[in-house]
Amino acid sequence: MSIVFKDVSKTYIHKGKEINALRPTSLTIHEGEIFGLIGFSGAGKSTLLRLINMLESPSSGMIHVGDDEMTGLSNKDLRVKRQKIGMIFQQFNLIESKTVAENIEFVLKAAEYPKGQRDGRIDQLLDLVGLSDKKTVYPKNLSGGQKQRVGIARALANDPDVLLSDEATSALDPDTTKTILNLLKRINKELGITIVVITHEMAVIKELAERVGVMSDGAVIELGDVYQIFSEPKHEVTKGFVQDIYDFEVPAHIVETSENRIITLKFLRESAEENHLNKLYRNYDLSISILNGRVEYINGIPLGILMLQVSGESDEIRRLIESIDKTPGVERAEIYD
Ligand SMILES: Nc1ncnc2c1ncn2[C@@H]1O[C@H](COP(=O)(O)OP(=O)(O)OP(=O)(O)O)[C@@H](O)[C@H]1O
Ligand SMILES: [Mg+2]
Repeated sequence: MSIVFKDVSKTYIHKGKEINALRPTSLTIHEGEIFGLIGFSGAGKSTLLRLINMLESPSSGMIHVGDDEMTGLSNKDLRVKRQKIGMIFQQFNLIESKTVAENIEFVLKAAEYPKGQRDGRIDQLLDLVGLSDKKTVYPKNLSGGQKQRVGIARALANDPDVLLSDEATSALDPDTTKTILNLLKRINKELGITIVVITHEMAVIKELAERVGVMSDGAVIELGDVYQIFSEPKHEVTKGFVQDIYDFEVPAHIVETSENRIITLKFLRESAEENHLNKLYRNYDLSISILNGRVEYINGIPLGILMLQVSGESDEIRRLIESIDKTPGVERAEIYD
């Protein structure tokens, strides 16, 4: 199901003061995609997410989820609609006094899922998330990763079209995070569920999302496909989030002069796999050494970054730079810090 925001805003009143948690925002999340939202604490990510299932009602604007305009639904229709929008949380939100199976049964019951079929459905869901052996276990005896799997099973119980994830991996270690992200990817692929993930970690976006919106101060300030955002961030906040992959240290003893330059290059897409160095060495009377470099794969597409020290006559260096600037797929990179 697609999700469309039209001029949606949310203003909270706190102690008599207005807080613009979401400024008027128009946004389309496509059916079947994994859409990421990143931003610092207080940027408005959770507010935007909670507007999708109307856990918060907007101060203005319209929200379409599939064919339904959410603000126009009756309470009863909204309740039914919400069953088709699953949600998972950083703190898992499991009921501690209920077993894994009972936690899932709880939401099946609330949706009036036929009693005789509940057990079969629970088995199916636990199989999907790889927890078939934990049916009768209580949450306190599960690891964080296992708890989140229960959270995911519960969110999928009523066969949703949309899954909302609010920092679902923020409480997990890196390895467990990977397995949960892989599970989410599989769910998206196999079940065709539209997934919206909030995170403050670009690594999660890189691993999981196809498109990403960057939020700051209640607004989506930059939006695009994940590769584009990583390779050509425009806004300062976005640059801050992707800086890790550009963050190469320059050895302290190197002093830049017009005859000794440090040049950092970015190789986009297929260009990252071409043999550019050969050409540089062959065509210029310069001494070129590699100071640092790496290739990142974003959605499987390479983004190469290479830091070179180039020494020689300043005219020759200029010639090199001019030729680099004319080479498709190669750009000089800023170092963001
Ligand atoms: N129920 C509320 N009442 C008043 N203000 C709120 C409420 N919920 C959120 N806010 C404020 O709205 C702004 C956006 O909050 P929100 O929770 O959406 O941010 P966030 O990006 O999810 O942050 P975090 O990364 O810390 O979870 C913040 O200034 C927050 O204090
Ligand atoms: Mg939040």
